[in-house]
Amino acid sequence: MNYARRPGIDSESLRKAHARERERFVETHPECARLAQQSARHWLNGVPMHWMRDWSTPHPLFIRAARGVDVEDVDGNRYIDFCFGDTGAMFGHSPPAIARALAEAGGAGITSMLPAERVARVGEKLAATFGLPFWQMTQTATDANRNVLRWARAITGRPRILVFDGCYHGTVEETLVRAAPEFVAKGGSRARAGLIGMNHDVSTTTDAVPFNDITALEKVLARGRTAAVIAEPVMTNIGMVLPQPGFLAQLRELTRKYKTLLIIDETHTLSTARGGYSRAQDLQPDIWVCGKAIAGGMPCAVFGFTADVEAGMRRVQEGRAGGHSGMGTTLSANALALACLEASLDELMTETNYSSMHSVAAYLSEGLGRVFGAQGLAWHVSRVGARLEFAFGSPPRNGAESERTAWPELEHTLHLHLLNRGVLLTPFHNMMLCSPVTTSAHADVLLKHLHEGLREVGSRE
Ligand SMILES: Cc1ncc(COP(=O)(O)O)c(C=O)c1O
Repeated sequence: MNYARRPGIDSESLRKAHARERERFVETHPECARLAQQSARHWLNGVPMHWMRDWSTPHPLFIRAARGVDVEDVDGNRYIDFCFGDTGAMFGHSPPAIARALAEAGGAGITSMLPAERVARVGEKLAATFGLPFWQMTQTATDANRNVLRWARAITGRPRILVFDGCYHGTVEETLVRAAPEFVAKGGSRARAGLIGMNHDVSTTTDAVPFNDITALEKVLARGRTAAVIAEPVMTNIGMVLPQPGFLAQLRELTRKYKTLLIIDETHTLSTARGGYSRAQDLQPDIWVCGKAIAGGMPCAVFGFTADVEAGMRRVQEGRAGGHSGMGTTLSANALALACLEASLDELMTETNYSSMHSVAAYLSEGLGRVFGAQGLAWHVSRVGARLEFAFGSPPRNGAESERTAWPELEHTLHLHLLNRGVLLTPFHNMMLCSPVTTSAHADVLLKHLHEGLREVGSRE
């Protein structure tokens, strides 16, 4: 860790606080430590998915149960969850509607590779909720994005895609890119650092330009080689970067002008409202993608598309020889996922739930402002509906600016300070979600401990 001095924080106090919080974690999590040792015998990094180790804790938290906002670890420590599995459980852990759907549908056949009886009804509900007429299902948002990029290339006959620098759309190879400095003004890209086993030459498939940069966007689109732009309407994976006024409208206008499909990935911005950000802001994407919370945390993702895109898909299918399309996985659209998707559309994504999520998120946002303001730090809080993110410095306009506001030493220490006092934030950044069962009293607990944590490391000058 680098505890270099920055305004508002005393670097020596920060270093000591970090060490103290690590010790406190170890003292209060003996059973987690024991399971960490035991699990290391058979799991890579001691965990069933190797990056479950990327939390601020000295060893993993092993979870016994999670319900509503409450998470309990195997040592009996209880937490108020603001991470919600990084969005998968955004409507609360094990919502009763999903638990019921699982119990009912689980006894009537989990997977048959055939459409379940409820398919027609769920299609109607998807169309009514999100405003797009045609739909497909996958198991993860990654896979949905992989599929829609393939469709876009097939429909347009164009080879390239465009993403915004700092994006994350799952582990789809051609989106795992950054804008190389030499490319920023004219597109192009290089692979993100740290990718394992990557043999995909992203410069041949992908252009990455800064978010909110219409000039760079148009320069690339004008070449007429871009099948699709895939974008989150608010960047949420490199801190949070809000669109500047008019940017998304121009994005829509330019993609139409240059006959490029616009794919909006709302896997995280489903936090905005029933129908997502696109419906709330009338973005009119050609293709719309969402996973994670769409079926209440059950592995499931969907993509919706316009009648024009559907016509294009039919033309592609008619024009191709038989054989594998290269899309779809055996368990996608299984009966259990479909039942949870319907329960989620009916009972989780309701106006009442969103209204409660928004009011707690607004309360928390104001409170964070007070806490950071009192500390004399440069800070900002961004919010998209039920999703908030705090960061240090001014609000960024693009991924590179957002990345520069990161303060890992302070953030790790604060995350650990909160965790040791029963509050979970999202590990890779400073994201908080307010579920329908999160209350202002839960927010108060977070604010109190954040305030105390900052006071412990603040500079008195
Ligand atoms: C915007 C966005 N799209 C897609 C994904 C991929 O989701 P999954 O890991 O569930 O495939 C993520 C994951 O964080 C995401 O943030």
